[in-house]
Amino acid sequence: MSHKIQTLGEFIIENQDSFKYSSGELSRLINSIRLAAKVVNHEVNKAGLVDVIGAYGETNIQGEDQQKLDVYANDKFIQTLTKRNIVCGIASEEEDSFITINSQDEKNQNKYVVLIDPLDGSSNIDVNVSVGTIFSIYRRITPVGTPVQLADFLQRGSEQVAAGYVVYGTSTMLVYTTGAGVNGFTLNPAIGTFYLSHPKMQFPEDGTIYSVNEGNYFDFPEGIKKYIKYCQEEEDDRPYTSRYIGSLVSDFHRNMIKGGIYLYPKGSRNPSGKLRLLYECNPIAFIAEQANGKSSDGYTRTLEVVPTALHQRVPFICGSKNMVDTVEAFMQKFG
Ligand code: AHG
Ligand code: MN
Ligand code: MN
Ligand code: MN
Repeated sequence: MSHKIQTLGEFIIENQDSFKYSSGELSRLINSIRLAAKVVNHEVNKAGLVDVIGAYGETNIQGEDQQKLDVYANDKFIQTLTKRNIVCGIASEEEDSFITINSQDEKNQNKYVVLIDPLDGSSNIDVNVSVGTIFSIYRRITPVGTPVQLADFLQRGSEQVAAGYVVYGTSTMLVYTTGAGVNGFTLNPAIGTFYLSHPKMQFPEDGTIYSVNEGNYFDFPEGIKKYIKYCQEEEDDRPYTSRYIGSLVSDFHRNMIKGGIYLYPKGSRNPSGKLRLLYECNPIAFIAEQANGKSSDGYTRTLEVVPTALHQRVPFICGSKNMVDTVEAFMQKFG
């Protein structure tokens, strides 16, 4: 590390003035996420030792079997954010509807709403593969001091003021943006402190990794099928390398560092794709763009999609700019 040693706490204070809306409130919010991430990290790291893996026994609004750690992470993030009186509303992949938060002084003066995927890649937890947390932050659009409304959550991704993810991997990292570049912090588990380890993260313009669940190949649009065949051709720097973990956070994190593309297209089994616009695609797209990458549904910039429902799904193609441009060209040509 050639840069100066800096903790996440120090970084948040030093960069407070670079927020679009300079406010201690957003700093406190990111500090709370940092705290919840450490609590969840502690639990994830015990998986296999104590009884935290396996199914919880309920199905969430997405129609997925919840894992115990899905529920644990959801509870921890919600508790941490509500008890500190920092946000006015939360929406989560694991909750049917959004949560309205009232401050202790009756009128909630808080300006921010948070949307989270508390545990991403949770089906991987039983087999010791990296999982993550994704978060997205907006300023409310309804008047401060009134209960939040659905409209506060259904904002276009381009309105995000901050977004980030935690990857509970070989080491635990927190990566986030407030619209002024992307920075990554690695947890020193011995002392429970995140240090700036990846300043100003940037996608390589081009890459040689493609990440897609090829088991669904038969079901993909023609343009995506043709693109996958293109990745496998022997020409120029191709064939590309196929890498698919099945945890969006981990697949994206690797591709941002090494150069690559992630694809979750639509198909007859997932007519709008699988990934959730508000909890997964928008925050990851914001980070991608802030790191000089690109994200779209094959035609439209992800951050321009107008949300119509909390748990809406969209096709998701995200990664190195030139690679996403190539997929869009295939979609234009073959549909
Ligand atoms: P989650 O665990 O939050 O429900 O998200 C699962 C998502 C994402 O992490 C991953 O990239 C994708 O589902 C994998 O889907 P397939 O198993 O269909 O490939
Ligand atoms: Mn899920
Ligand atoms: Mn997810
Ligand atoms: Mn999840």
